Amino acid sequence: MAEILLIDHVGHRGDGVALVEGHAVYVPYALAGETVEVAEVHGHPDRRRLLAVESPSPERIAPFCKHFGVCGGCAIQHWQMERYRAWKHALVVETLRHAKLDCEVAPLIDAHGNGRRRITLHARMDTHEVVKVGYAAASTHDIIPIDHCPILDPALERALDAAWALSEPLIATGKPLDIQATATDNGLDVDIRGSGPLQPKLIAALSRVAEHHRLARLTRHGELVLLRAQPTVAIGKAKVTLPPGSFLQATAAGEETLAALVKDHCGRAKHIADLFCGVGPFALRLAERARMAAFDADAPAVDALAKAAHAPGLKPIKAEARDLFRRPLVPQELRDYDAVVFDPPRQGAQAQAQKLAASRVPVIVAVSCNAATFARDARILIDGGYRLECVTPVDQFRYTPHVELVARFTR
Ligand SMILES: C[S@@+](CC[C@H](N)C(=O)[O-])C[C@H]1O[C@@H](n2cnc3c(N)ncnc32)[C@H](O)[C@@H]1O
Repeated sequence: MAEILLIDHVGHRGDGVALVEGHAVYVPYALAGETVEVAEVHGHPDRRRLLAVESPSPERIAPFCKHFGVCGGCAIQHWQMERYRAWKHALVVETLRHAKLDCEVAPLIDAHGNGRRRITLHARMDTHEVVKVGYAAASTHDIIPIDHCPILDPALERALDAAWALSEPLIATGKPLDIQATATDNGLDVDIRGSGPLQPKLIAALSRVAEHHRLARLTRHGELVLLRAQPTVAIGKAKVTLPPGSFLQATAAGEETLAALVKDHCGRAKHIADLFCGVGPFALRLAERARMAAFDADAPAVDALAKAAHAPGLKPIKAEARDLFRRPLVPQELRDYDAVVFDPPRQGAQAQAQKLAASRVPVIVAVSCNAATFARDARILIDGGYRLECVTPVDQFRYTPHVELVARFTR
């Protein structure tokens, strides 16, 4: 049954929020002040589906993508850019305020640049045995077929055609596939997951598709199917060969922005630890003027970093595979460093923050993709005697509610 709601504000996931008898009700793609016609969403009493905007906000704009509102990728393309940016900045301000962290939040830095350089596409067969390749629809497992995605780096756009073509021979496996593609300096690096081990006939068919689409590398769950060129990315003075499926910041501009802030915050430190280093976007740049020790649980990423560390003009980098949740660096080990950088996954770095809080490291730089877990870890550092000097939000996931931040702590 249709219902009319007045939207009160835009929530932290980008949905319009209406207050119904004191309870929040979430309406995706609605803006503050709008009166909207909505329908119930089965199984989600606090969500509604937008049917029509009866009185649009003056801040509403036309989305630029034909898939917007269906594909589940972007949450916000329908809001004036300045208002969107203010909302994103406020997400960080509010999270810090809620955690009683007293600190100025610098203006949001836009880091969309040329767009996303990594995507994961999903391929499924529908009931008529037709392959669908695209993104998962918002709040469901349905696949929305995608043939164009304007938020991608132009170098990644070709991955859509390649993913459709790679899915065709795999249809026979009847398995749902995840196809991860990364734009590298030598072309697309594609890893297919979900198919299970493949017969030689299928490998040959996939290799032909990879050749035809001029992929740099095709792997199946990390196992090589075809290598035309090593997939490398330039990081500062170094060149890193990416392990299949390894982490890379979503946009090149995002990586450069985060790395520039990290470098600036480390100041004149001469010996720095980079925790949760990945393939080394911070360590390899910081090594231009400091000795580095880099740690991450992803052994292939650490190995790739160690190999890239031999580039001329870099100070020594010691790279170690280590699970920092189970075995965080302890205060005695941390004594070696005059700055520590940590950039954990979304769940944050609680165990490592506790050890850092008990250390004497003079400068700590936190990079985070989750303001809530950052706030928790920041509180641990502050309770250990650190001062939170500054927080800078960075927007590399434009049109989504995700926001990165970089913060500096000193003691
Ligand atoms: C947000 S990424 C940051 C990577 C790198 N700093 C960058 O900018 O590309 C988080 C990293 O944490 C690593 N990681 C996840 N769990 C870990 C753990 N328990 N111990 C150590 N590293 C972990 C991942 O492998 C990944 O490289």
